[in-house]
Amino acid sequence: MRIGVVGTGYVGLVTGACFADLGNRVICADIDRRKIEMLKRGETPIFEPGLEEKVRINARVGRLSFTDDVGEAVKKSKVMFVAVGTPPGPDGEADLSQVRAVAETVGRAMNGYRLVVNKSTVPVGTGDIVSQIIAQTSGGTYPHDVVSNPEFLREGSAIHDFMQPDRIVIGCSNPAAGEMVAELYAPLNAPIIVTDLLSAEMIKYTSNAFLALKISFINEVANICERVGADVRDVVEGVTKDNRINPAFFGAGVGYGGSCFPKDTLALVGIAAKAGYDFQILKAVIDVNEAQRSRFVAKITERLGDLGGKTVAVWGLSFKPNTDDIRESPSLDIIGKLLAAGAAVTAYDPVALEAARGALPDVDYASDPYAAAEGADALAVVTDWNEFKEANFEELAKAMRRRLIFDGRNIYDPAKVEAAGFEYVGVGRRAGRAAP
Ligand SMILES: NC(=O)c1ccc[n+]([C@@H]2O[C@H](COP(=O)([O-])OP(=O)(O)OC[C@H]3O[C@@H](n4cnc5c(N)ncnc54)[C@H](O)[C@@H]3O)[C@@H](O)[C@H]2O)c1
Repeated sequence: MRIGVVGTGYVGLVTGACFADLGNRVICADIDRRKIEMLKRGETPIFEPGLEEKVRINARVGRLSFTDDVGEAVKKSKVMFVAVGTPPGPDGEADLSQVRAVAETVGRAMNGYRLVVNKSTVPVGTGDIVSQIIAQTSGGTYPHDVVSNPEFLREGSAIHDFMQPDRIVIGCSNPAAGEMVAELYAPLNAPIIVTDLLSAEMIKYTSNAFLALKISFINEVANICERVGADVRDVVEGVTKDNRINPAFFGAGVGYGGSCFPKDTLALVGIAAKAGYDFQILKAVIDVNEAQRSRFVAKITERLGDLGGKTVAVWGLSFKPNTDDIRESPSLDIIGKLLAAGAAVTAYDPVALEAARGALPDVDYASDPYAAAEGADALAVVTDWNEFKEANFEELAKAMRRRLIFDGRNIYDPAKVEAAGFEYVGVGRRAGRAAP
């Protein structure tokens, strides 16, 4: 099958590389020339484990190519996957300008039937809008179908998630179009849910909103644990032994971030409001998440007092491990608040340093975690990279001015940290207890 993918970001590039890997001829298009030039040279513009190799191999054997001319991709491909950004607009609702622009290009460039498969996360009803735009710009000369196929991959394990998905969701009004998309995914042997366009679009938002809800829920439980002297890790362990309560996305910490949950929760609140419904729980989820970052900074100021003249080392800049994506990263927000309170910040991240430099120029960036901790009054661990889980506390104790660790992801055993001579502050943890 000849496939076009529009947008070579986290979703588009993974989609293109994986479909090529499954034996299809794929052309990936993006209006960002710099990205396309890099990809043509065999370099990937983003850090995603396993992606660069997949891109190189498939490009070498001629199954994967790149262009900055979206119209060219439309002309060469019967099936067009759309994976452009849908960032939040000023009122929180998804900004559909990139999706609309692609629909216009498809309409103008199509030279026969086209199947447009939307992977971008879009408000309910967008599939119909895309279809109207294609019909208008093409003059209705050629037939087309629009299918919704929301993407559930997670950055950091995107290739695995694409190749071994829990499910594939296909929303369509024409069953034959849905069948064509299902055939493309057949080699993955995944459960396929076929539904109408509106329900498919709703499934994506509902999934993300529910995962965000789990995180905010357990963060509130952690905040109560701190007041009553319970330990949220033990609470989670006890609760999730109940097979109705899945432990994924159920760990307390500084809250969620990234390019999806913050924008998708806001968008769903907006979708509900437009439909005349006040989505109260989801509004609370968003508020709790924002407050969780401030609470973390408040803990630091409580212990250190006035932050003027103090140095805080921050481990982790990306919004989660195994990615260099810093979009809506809790770390950036927390660092901003520390700087605003007068602290000097030294930061380290295994792969996101370059990305962060532009966003936060007033931070000292270190090339290794212990150099970042040198002379620091406190260490704040904000992203749960494996490298941080295996910290050498002896080395850390030598580097830091004051032995104080704020574990924003609850990755350490408080007893172990305390045994190494540190004061430990987690999220909802009972510090000062004996090792189990
Ligand atoms: N990142 C994730 O983990 C993830 C997971 C599931 C779903 N999604 C959804 O998928 C969509 C894409 O997300 P992403 O993280 O890959 O975004 P991204 O910002 O990484 O990539 C989007 C790409 O689209 C390109 N683009 C913009 N307008 C274009 C146009 N008119 N023609 C061609 N290319 C254009 C941009 O240059 C960019 O390279 C979003 O709707 C997002 O919500 C993302």
